[in-house]
Amino acid sequence: MSEQLVLSTIQGKVGILTLNRPKVLNALNNDIMLALSNELLALEKNENVHVIVLTGSEKAFAAGADISAMQKWSYMDVYKSDYIGGFWETMKTSIRKPVIAAVSGYALGGGCELAMMCDLIYAAENAKFGQPEIKLGTIPGLGGTQRLTRAVGKAKAMDLVLTGRFMDAQEAESAGLVARILPNENFLDEVIKIADGMANFSSPVLMMAKQCVNAALETTLEQGLAYERRVFHATFALEDQKEGMSAFVEKRAPNFKNM
Ligand code: HXC
Repeated sequence: MSEQLVLSTIQGKVGILTLNRPKVLNALNNDIMLALSNELLALEKNENVHVIVLTGSEKAFAAGADISAMQKWSYMDVYKSDYIGGFWETMKTSIRKPVIAAVSGYALGGGCELAMMCDLIYAAENAKFGQPEIKLGTIPGLGGTQRLTRAVGKAKAMDLVLTGRFMDAQEAESAGLVARILPNENFLDEVIKIADGMANFSSPVLMMAKQCVNAALETTLEQGLAYERRVFHATFALEDQKEGMSAFVEKRAPNFKNM
């Protein structure tokens, strides 16, 4: 029986997806991207799951696209391969729940790009980020020149993309790529704890909040503010907004019903 490329487990209201090609440091090929897409969609459909965590192994989140698979690709092979554009289409249009990248070890090339497609990145102390495609005679093709530049600014993005060097967790955090650094020990458990905290809030409100923050990268300030205001108004149509504010006033814990 072939090994499962992406393992999916659920802890409370948190869905955890683990990339599972340890022998090649979770190098990304068509099959693993397809499996990831399917598992993400399954967690998105599962109403008991409010937040999704995507992770790899201690040594590697993912060391990039599978170089052995790509090595002999012709222009038409790479053009026809749909794991690049296709996967982002799934993330963008179908995954409304927050997705956290829990990065331990290497997040390189397509691995760094995959982490950046998530809504936020938590890094273990041993995390290393980079876009080393230049060393292979190619360039990032899954958003590395675009999302990295938006996250860390032109100076550092240019430096990383043109030299192919790796950036450690400290540098990635101070540059704005990473939300927090957590100790290597019990790293995933700690990320799941944070995810669990989020997951106990109202699921529709989590989705609305994520959508608004992501909109900031896609639009002008004026349009973004107008969009945020409309979504803020919309939260007042939810029972969970009534419950959240009543609970505060009554000095008790809220009991969100996700509606
Ligand atoms: C295929 C890979 C791989 C990759 C590692 N392996 N990365 N196989 N594709 N991206 C394999 C190695 O060949 C090796 O297999 C095993 O994993 C362990 O790796 P080692 O190199 O022996 O480990 P180590 O010495 O610890 O070095 C770790 C590393 C190095 C620094 C991460 O593996 C490395 O530089 N990997 C390539 C990183 C990279 O260039 N990524 C960008 C890819 S291009 P064997 O069989 O020898 O044990 C890309 C483009 C995206 O991502 C564009 C959109 C698709």
